[in-house]
Amino acid sequence: MSAIESVLRENRVFSPSAEAAAGAAISGMDAYRALMAEAERDYDGFWAKLARETLAWRKPFTKVLDESDAPFFKWFEDGELNASYNCLDRHVEAGQGDRTAVIFETDDGVVTHVTYRDLLERVCRFANALKRRGVKKGDRVVIYMPMSIEGVVAMQACARIGAPHSVVFGGFSSKSLNERLVDVGAVALITADEQMRGGKALPLKRIADEALAMGGCEAVKSVIVYRRTGGNVEWDASRDLWMHEVVAQEAATCEPEWLSAEHPLFVLYTSGSTGKPKGVQHSTGGYLLWAAQTMKWTFDWKPADVFWCTADIGWITGHTYITYGPLALGATQVVFEGVPTYPDGGRFWNMIEKHKVSIFYTAPTAIRSLIKIADADEKVHPKSFDLSSLRILGTVGEPINPEAWVWYHQHVGGARCPVIDTWWQTETGGHMIAPMPGATPLVPGSCTLPLPGIMAAIVDETGQDVPNGQGGILVVKRPWPSMLRTVWGDPERFKKSYFPAELGGNLYLAGDGSVRDKETGYFTIMGRIDDVLNVSGHRLGTMEIESALVSNPIVAEAAVVGRPDDTTGEAVVAFVVLKRPRPEGEEAAKLANELRAWVGKEIGPIAKPKDIRFGDNLPKTRSGKIMRRLLRSLAKGEEITQDVSTLENPAILEQLAEVR
Ligand code: PRX
Repeated sequence: MSAIESVLRENRVFSPSAEAAAGAAISGMDAYRALMAEAERDYDGFWAKLARETLAWRKPFTKVLDESDAPFFKWFEDGELNASYNCLDRHVEAGQGDRTAVIFETDDGVVTHVTYRDLLERVCRFANALKRRGVKKGDRVVIYMPMSIEGVVAMQACARIGAPHSVVFGGFSSKSLNERLVDVGAVALITADEQMRGGKALPLKRIADEALAMGGCEAVKSVIVYRRTGGNVEWDASRDLWMHEVVAQEAATCEPEWLSAEHPLFVLYTSGSTGKPKGVQHSTGGYLLWAAQTMKWTFDWKPADVFWCTADIGWITGHTYITYGPLALGATQVVFEGVPTYPDGGRFWNMIEKHKVSIFYTAPTAIRSLIKIADADEKVHPKSFDLSSLRILGTVGEPINPEAWVWYHQHVGGARCPVIDTWWQTETGGHMIAPMPGATPLVPGSCTLPLPGIMAAIVDETGQDVPNGQGGILVVKRPWPSMLRTVWGDPERFKKSYFPAELGGNLYLAGDGSVRDKETGYFTIMGRIDDVLNVSGHRLGTMEIESALVSNPIVAEAAVVGRPDDTTGEAVVAFVVLKRPRPEGEEAAKLANELRAWVGKEIGPIAKPKDIRFGDNLPKTRSGKIMRRLLRSLAKGEEITQDVSTLENPAILEQLAEVR
């Protein structure tokens, strides 16, 4: 049974306990409805109040939402603030300097506690070092780093001096890194000698050197290297600097740059339905407001909590729920370098026990893989650990199947912690549709209802509302403060991708299909409606993988589709036509491995196809269009029952159906 079918048949409801509701910021559904009604009654007033209460402004804003250049919306534009001041200085000034900001645990289990005062000093020193290298307000800095305190420091230091950062996930290849350096026009690159994950070292500096050597990024004048392992690196004295050396010379204070709320805080690349990743640009004020506000609403964060988001800072989840949201509130959080399965599948549970984590936020793919491991070995089952510190569980990145939800709830949360299924995207900046722990009755597999102020809806292809119970296209009807502002360097693409004319030009198109429950109005996400795949919660464009494949000299043509996968949610399946006769047997297996490695080098290991099938051709219509729906069926191993009368070459189906 597919995840969607099982969600639609789901009728278990988990209501918040009286105790959870009593202590929560938003207690009971009436409180939720009152906030929603307030937002509907006075949209500007609703957001202005939150922005004044949640953030510290250097110069108060007088304007709230400016729609005059829609869909290029502006929020709080004449207000001035600094994100790093909000995340660090204001807590120290409020007497919280000795509070632990970060509990960092390395891959091999070494733990470091960093206070807010320490973190502020480290950020100031690094901000001064960047300034000394000539990095100034508006310049872009690319960060290609492992999960580390230094990674968070680098991001915050950029925010402090108003230099938008663009973090590139450490698993991306030199080519992907080069493309991002070029597109964003970086002036500096911050990296590490090596990254440690699961006991293995990955040579980040070497990959960064390769990326720079590919050219187009001559504007990068400084490469600042964090020494993580002490492994061998090549050194270019004209440009390379050790992080520990540059910060040692700098002062521990640095006046923050006061910025318009609309000043870009960062650019984060994500996959779209065309070949080239999009640079999603976020603002300072609106983004930070929602990062902090959703911590309070969706996670019901309180000062006594120990928060842990297991994402990587290379993804939006790591930006919002590691670098910005928790720090904006003065939270104590765990930051983890490693992977959930090293040294064994009990790592997460062991760390929750050790650090007394109370709010735990992870991805369905991690839960699914840990279920398998726990089932096979009691020692790493959550029941073998003391997880009584937990009070709230969260999930993000892909639909969570009800079986995994219930396991998470029972075995990790001891049947007492709500599972908060958060739907959102790189583009939305923070949670959009998610339950609130003290208010929303939970239904496994549903992300429930939009947060207050978020006008999410489901429409048909013409932009008309569809009734509950009928599936359609997920949209947001009103701009919200943390939405992306544009696609870096490509405003036309921003308009076309997110506010398409077919829907009337005024609805934000999320790119997901969804359905609302007839009675409750709860949303269930049904996955992407475009050519974007979701593999282990990572977003990949089918066109990106296709371009990578056809750039191999032996490949004539390639088509990539997704197939449901028990562990990774979706798996990449590639259908490939070679410039030589179709290989079979061992030859085919060997070439498939070569192509897999090729994609790993072109994009990164996350994009490697799980299954590669070779054909003499691809199924095409007489006009030459590849019939992807047939490929999707073939990938799943389904019998082809669709109409194939428009197919130019029906015999090809049999060839491609062959599973190796
Ligand atoms: O398809 C949706 C899925 O992930 C996409 C966004 O991916 P990305 O920008 O990489 O951000 C991931 C982390 C926020 C969405 O379009 N998605 C995200 N969260 C959920 C989800 N699908 C179902 N349920 C979710 N909770």
